[in-house]
Amino acid sequence: MNHFINIKDISTFKLRKIISDAKNRKNKRKYLNALDADKDAPLKGKFLIQMFEKSSLRTRISFYLAIRQLGGSALTLRPDELHLSKGGESLSDTAKILSTYGNIFMLRTDSDKKIEEFRNYLKIPLINALSPGGHPLQILSDIFTIEEIKKKNISKLNICWIGDSNNVLNSLIEASIRFSFKLNIGCPKKYKPTTSLLQWVKKNKGKLNIFHDAQKAANNADVILTDKVISMNDTVNKAKKIKDFKKFQVNSNVMKQGNRDCIFLHCLPRGSEVTDEVFFGKQSKVWQQALNRVYVQKSILLYCFDKL
Ligand code: CP
Ligand code: NVA
Repeated sequence: MNHFINIKDISTFKLRKIISDAKNRKNKRKYLNALDADKDAPLKGKFLIQMFEKSSLRTRISFYLAIRQLGGSALTLRPDELHLSKGGESLSDTAKILSTYGNIFMLRTDSDKKIEEFRNYLKIPLINALSPGGHPLQILSDIFTIEEIKKKNISKLNICWIGDSNNVLNSLIEASIRFSFKLNIGCPKKYKPTTSLLQWVKKNKGKLNIFHDAQKAANNADVILTDKVISMNDTVNKAKKIKDFKKFQVNSNVMKQGNRDCIFLHCLPRGSEVTDEVFFGKQSKVWQQALNRVYVQKSILLYCFDKL
């Protein structure tokens, strides 16, 4: 079995296998309904337990569809209904029970420590469905979307991120090493990625450049991505942070700095970091991006079950 916790913990070979499996499975399902299982139903009888300690629309529904299309089933837990969250049961006992009933566990949480603890106690695979440290599901799926649209290996493209140095960017940075692509980041000076992540990039000879000017960061971009300035449960002074990011909104002037066929991606939900003009414009591929979560997560599930 395999856990899916961070992009950097997984080899390029295995990440590539996930992407190519997703492509094959997506192609084979053109005429099926959302809940029809793939012909081979490789996870028939398997049970996914998913728990969200923070809000989710896309991840929760796309995983439900993903496991159903593979022949399995899912249950979503509300943390406030568990003994664990009220302190009435230990994490290790909870993990033991999840491993007794379920075949795979997915967790969205505000605590990377909790992810580590569950990893240690579970006897079944664990999927990180977003933590402060990363959102690997989103980024692997975005790489799939980028290559699907551009019909090119991502290593041949210029990727640009404008916005906060948050969990989604952390995973994008990790992916820039595993998939060898050039990554420009546009963010205010005091919102740079963590020193430890930047050191890891340096050690791995990454092609990463940080600009404190959105237009410069977007120069020659093939893909521009962004995300909310204020992430879920962000404890900062929100008004100040939004002000600090005022010059880092993705608008049509920023998009114009990119290459002719530059596309715009956003993991959603969105806020003031992108204008409606860009979000609903021709270059925006956000709906295709959201749908592809289903396909890539199916192959991530298969990877976790060692069935790729
Ligand atoms: N992009 C994403 O993970 O969306 P949700 O928070 O709605 O799951
Ligand atoms: N950075 C965002 C991503 C949401 C999918 C958050 O953590 O809230």
